[in-house]
Amino acid sequence: MATTFIKNGWYAAAWTEEIGPQLIERWICGDPLVMFRDRDGKAIALDGTCPHRSYPLALGRLKDDVLECGYHGLAFGTDGRCVRAPGGEPVQPAMRVRSYRLVERGGLIWIWPGDPALADASKIVDWWLTDPAWTTVHDTKLVNARQSLLIDNLMDLTHEASLHMGTLGNAAVIETPLITETLPDHVRATRMMLDIPPPGLFAQMGLSGTIDRGQVAEFHPPGLCLTIVTAKPRTENAPTLRWTVLHALTPETEDRTRYLWATARDYALDDERISDIWLTQTNSIFDQDVAALEAQEQRLRATPKPIELSVAADAGALAARKMLRTWPQ
Ligand code: FES
Ligand SMILES: [Fe+2]
Repeated sequence: MATTFIKNGWYAAAWTEEIGPQLIERWICGDPLVMFRDRDGKAIALDGTCPHRSYPLALGRLKDDVLECGYHGLAFGTDGRCVRAPGGEPVQPAMRVRSYRLVERGGLIWIWPGDPALADASKIVDWWLTDPAWTTVHDTKLVNARQSLLIDNLMDLTHEASLHMGTLGNAAVIETPLITETLPDHVRATRMMLDIPPPGLFAQMGLSGTIDRGQVAEFHPPGLCLTIVTAKPRTENAPTLRWTVLHALTPETEDRTRYLWATARDYALDDERISDIWLTQTNSIFDQDVAALEAQEQRLRATPKPIELSVAADAGALAARKMLRTWPQ
């Protein structure tokens, strides 16, 4: 498997609270990086490999905004330039590591692994993470599967009716046709399920009777899927509940994906019980996905020429693949 990563795009690198004054290693698009915060609290990401003898820089030391390699002591500033060579030797211009463009917003640290001149922070799709009218819970899964399998999973939500039956799925999910649209910068697959009983997780949100369930799956290249949900009770005057799940899918290597997820809702904003339900249930539902994705990855690795037969419900996932194939790298 030889993966070409799309580097000119924003990927979620970490949650804000993961990055502090200690050095941590994080892989993005096949490259190891070292991340930390400087004395002003600004998040920094540098190439994670020492240009002297390839020692991991995350195993080094950070002091007064200078990162010293733990092997022979080459030292780098937060801009990646070498500031000190061992034994007081003159610093060679090539002794530098790349410093990456980061944007910290809405609890996430986004990274642009490609050409910094093309990085445009207005292209990050995250408005509900920063809007005070929404409240969020979040967590991370490290998945031993290629990123494309996660995109397939999230753009074909018919799997809810088998993998997540009882929480997210019921018969309406498979019985309702999908409308797929390819827009200039994202793909959208919509399913409107009218007058249906609320699935288990919806009932835990207090929904009863029958509801109109709107389910929109979006893919924003190179690594963001959204699940946008509306649940409108058929009962008169009952409020419509809305939630959006952000799935930031960051390829670490060709067969490992960091999956940073957040569920944002526009109701019961301060209700800790509802937040707990979202955190616990989303984690357990996504554990079901992770198990399926890892089994799929194992099988694909063991099968040189896998068969792939598509059905109508794959339309969103196929449109996402097509957009990715033509997306600038
Ligand atoms: S490997 Fe880093 S200084 Fe030698
Ligand atoms: Fe799922």
